[in-house]
Amino acid sequence: MEAIVAEERERQHHVVADRLQEFLHTNARGVETTVPPDVGSLVHEVHPRRLLADLTLPTAVLGACTELLEEQRRVDVLRAHALEPRHRVLLSGPPGNGKTSLAAALAGELAVPMLVVRYDAVIGSFLGETAARLARMFDYVRTRRCVLFFDEFDTLGKERGDEHETREVKRIVSSLLLNIDALPSHAVVITATNHPELLDRAVWRRFQLRLNLPPPVGRDINRFLDAFEQQQGVTVGGPVKKSVRSVLAGHSFSEIEEFLLDAQRRLVLSGGATTVDEILKARVKQWRLRGATVTADNQ
Ligand SMILES: Nc1ncnc2c1ncn2[C@@H]1O[C@H](COP(=O)(O)OP(=O)(O)O)[C@@H](O)[C@H]1O
Ligand SMILES: [Mg+2]
Repeated sequence: MEAIVAEERERQHHVVADRLQEFLHTNARGVETTVPPDVGSLVHEVHPRRLLADLTLPTAVLGACTELLEEQRRVDVLRAHALEPRHRVLLSGPPGNGKTSLAAALAGELAVPMLVVRYDAVIGSFLGETAARLARMFDYVRTRRCVLFFDEFDTLGKERGDEHETREVKRIVSSLLLNIDALPSHAVVITATNHPELLDRAVWRRFQLRLNLPPPVGRDINRFLDAFEQQQGVTVGGPVKKSVRSVLAGHSFSEIEEFLLDAQRRLVLSGGATTVDEILKARVKQWRLRGATVTADNQ
């Protein structure tokens, strides 16, 4: 089979070769394929176990992701009608609200590895060098089912009007975008940015799904508190819950988690000597102080 793929590539039959290779990897599912060393330095490979249900997502985002997963899973049905599944996703939203987690969960749901692009390793001081590395990375990525993850994409693809930006950088970004366009649909490209306004239209237009992950609302905080009560086997008083909600308002999902983990640590170490309400009240007090010294956009 590998020989046939090589032969088809030699004949420049890339579409056929991609399909065959995809088939190979589909059958090899469950067997952990590892990135070869020359590509391994350019991407970081992870095998997420997380699923969509582990995240709190806006209904519209969950719906869009469910559609994407169905298209990817039922690709044969689509192809029978000359259609391809969608596979280019742009995630935006402030830090700590699930961009990386969602990319991982999509990989987890598809049971494919997530390849996180390492810009430090890909971008060299010379254009030729960078172009060669990009080519190496994409040549590999197109051969396998995976989620290719570009984090903080704005640092690369930001508005290209800046005079001081060298022509080289522009060319790298263009080449990157062309490469993304050329990827077969079994390679799901997910890019994340905290600053979607910095991306020019040429960039975001390419992404078939553009999903925003907002910070939690009161209802989400309640859900985390309910889960906390259940996991710890405790009951938190109404007034304490209220002050927890108020101190966490405007913070990210990741900070809610951090807050409750802090509480959990105190709970464990107190060994029952302190009530959960006392512990949470002390946490709230500490977070208020913390809020006074750290600005909201400290990340
Ligand atoms: N929407 C969410 N639902 C549940 N947990 C979340 C959510 N967003 C973030 N978290 C928690 O916060 C942590 C950090 O989030 P992360 O995905 O790294 O955010 P981002 O990539 O947007 O900065 C996650 O590992 C997860 O535990
Ligand atoms: Mg992230």
